[in-house]
Amino acid sequence: MQPNELEQWKELAITCAKTAGKLSLEKMNQPYTVNYKTSASDLVTAVDEEVEQMVIDMILKQYPEHGILGEENRFQGMAPSEYDTLWIIDPIDGTTNFVHQQINFSVSIAVYHKGEAIVGVVYDPSRDELFYATKGGGAYLNDRQLRIHRQVKLEEALLCTSVFWHKRAEQIGIDVIFKELAGKVRGMRLLGSAALELSYVAAGRLDGYVSLQLNPWDFGAGKLIIQEAGGTATTMEGKELPYDAKSSVMGCNPTFYEELQQFIRSNMNLIRSAQDAKDHT
Ligand code: IPD
Ligand code: CA
Ligand code: CA
Ligand code: CA
Repeated sequence: MQPNELEQWKELAITCAKTAGKLSLEKMNQPYTVNYKTSASDLVTAVDEEVEQMVIDMILKQYPEHGILGEENRFQGMAPSEYDTLWIIDPIDGTTNFVHQQINFSVSIAVYHKGEAIVGVVYDPSRDELFYATKGGGAYLNDRQLRIHRQVKLEEALLCTSVFWHKRAEQIGIDVIFKELAGKVRGMRLLGSAALELSYVAAGRLDGYVSLQLNPWDFGAGKLIIQEAGGTATTMEGKELPYDAKSSVMGCNPTFYEELQQFIRSNMNLIRSAQDAKDHT
């Protein structure tokens, strides 16, 4: 990577995110088709596809040798791991909100180089809020640098999670833990756009965000924005987030990350031992 490339990629990611966000806003009040992907709660609109195509065209015009991993699969190329430089894009994160609320959706664009996140951009067009970060260059909301500074204990945390609604939660017993957790923390929130929720952790509007399963286009940009704001972003097991596979995600204010991990881990063990005892009776 040349020294000026990081800055050029950041500028292009910001231009793409802003152009994409504006296109979504324009199209929002015109008729568009809505299709079900896997079910009535998994939507894709013609706008998701049009926006993704536009962003792909903008990137390839400048960097035809780069790879792109987009949620709506509009890029036909090699496997993501085959590219030195990979753009990971979610044209509309929060499609359900786009359709129902016309607010609380975002564009998420991340640039990975040799497997490492180096640019992350999340743009909320309805509030004109741009969250972005570069590796080693800090995180920003519009012109303001973001620094997570609040000291938070678990009981003081404002936590965001979609775990309750995840089918796997009941199977692995984690829904019970999150019910416990909901009674322990100061409050729970759910916005419906993972990229925005992660960016809100970086901005201190939320203290933590936990999801059982997301795709790299949901968390690729938000992860770097949290880390560059001084926060922690890992899988729920504390491992590094992948760029080419589904994963659980835990993005946190670092002062309460360990306490949250510990709470989940010890309650998981309690559930496991109760399960083992039951299996042996
Ligand atoms: C969804 C949103 C939502 C999260 C889902 C994602 P989409 O993305 O980020 O907050 O809970 O798991 O699939 O489909 O609206 O881009
Ligand atoms: Ca989707
Ligand atoms: Ca998404
Ligand atoms: Ca999407």
